[in-house]
Amino acid sequence: MPLVPMKELLTRAEKQNCAVGAFSVGNMEMVRGVLRAAQEKNQPVILQIAEKRLASSPLALMAPMMVSAAKNASVDVAVHLDHGLTVACVKEALQYGFTSVMLDASLLPFDENISITKEVVAMAAAYGATTEAELGVVGGNEGDTAKHEIQCTDPQKAKEFVERTGVDALAVAIGNAHGNYPVLPELRFDILQQIRQTVSCPLVLHGGTGMSDFQFRKAISLGIRKINIATASFDALANAAQKYLAGCDTPDYFQLSEEMVRGVAANVARHLQIFSNR
Ligand code: 13P
Repeated sequence: MPLVPMKELLTRAEKQNCAVGAFSVGNMEMVRGVLRAAQEKNQPVILQIAEKRLASSPLALMAPMMVSAAKNASVDVAVHLDHGLTVACVKEALQYGFTSVMLDASLLPFDENISITKEVVAMAAAYGATTEAELGVVGGNEGDTAKHEIQCTDPQKAKEFVERTGVDALAVAIGNAHGNYPVLPELRFDILQQIRQTVSCPLVLHGGTGMSDFQFRKAISLGIRKINIATASFDALANAAQKYLAGCDTPDYFQLSEEMVRGVAANVARHLQIFSNR
């Protein structure tokens, strides 16, 4: 049964000096596309969905599909709640069998972020699941209209945060942002290096869409073990659909579905190749 706790994949990535790709999904074609690429590359992968996306992709439909897809895969797969906003949603995801959860309290004051994260760590532990949290502010937005100003993670605060919460993985803010970057971002690798020196748990990079291969490799060399890709996958699906529909007079649902799976799989495969650091 290749549904595994996310921590297991991150520990392996640490030993192999690579990163695990975490791909956001919103429908069946995306789930199939992610798994097709992971199986073809014979690489582990993380299937994830953010709480904000549940308005268009309800958890009651997505969760059983994601968990079942993981269980039936030929590679190890972790299923993760990305950017949980409420403890209730985290609990629901755990009940559905997610093997990892994130509650994003990064916009709350430091001590409040710590206390709610501790609550989630204890809850996830009861299910044998992994916990991710975020410190500092990643720019852009993940599924809402608010645009957040980037605030880089403070390395000393990161150390204190990880020690006090016992979290398994920490998402850092180093100039990264969600969504398409207008220009290539300037990532603060100096800050990442300091965080790496002070923090013992695996580090997570959000906002992967649009980063360069060099930036991915550099981030991995400095301890990033999970890289989130969302926008690029949603765009890959939409572009594949547009291309198919523009090129035919009589659209066929089954062909359309296959094109969407292919579009997503191609994007995932490209990222998995870089993240494997081979
Ligand atoms: P992108 O949409 O920029 O790829 O960000 C993904 C992400 O970090 C999801 O949490």
